[in-house]
Amino acid sequence: MDKTKMVSKLNEILAHEWTGVAQYSQQGFMVQGLWREAYEPRFKAGADESFAHARLIGDKIVALGGVPTIERNKVKQADSIEEMLANSLQFEQTAVRHYEEALALCDDETDRPLVILLEDILLQEQAGADELVKLVHGAQAASPAQPAKPARARVG
Ligand SMILES: [Fe+2]
Repeated sequence: MDKTKMVSKLNEILAHEWTGVAQYSQQGFMVQGLWREAYEPRFKAGADESFAHARLIGDKIVALGGVPTIERNKVKQADSIEEMLANSLQFEQTAVRHYEEALALCDDETDRPLVILLEDILLQEQAGADELVKLVHGAQAASPAQPAKPARARVG
């Protein structure tokens, strides 16, 4: 395994996780109306999960001789719950891709604990993405933008 490449990839991941901390927190702050009851705890949990991943990745970067980034990427702001969920889904899918790319760098399997760490987080990211696919599809199905029910046949 090329340690320099791995540290660089893990720092990309760390920046993504810091983005998750800010983006999910912002969604939790901003979600209003009836959706707040359901989604504020969910977004807060998303921020906590990103923070937990950031801690694991930051510690691993130092263990590999690197310096963890304090930068993050741009946070996507949203006005509606549908948009927040779509942004969350995109965030989780990007996380899945990042962890898969990091695992691809473990080609010689010399650092088995790193493989296990990355696989463990990858599982969580994929579970989050799977859940959001269901939520986003459900939200779209409930949206007024969907075609209305077929009109009833007229009587008389
Ligand atoms: Fe994460």
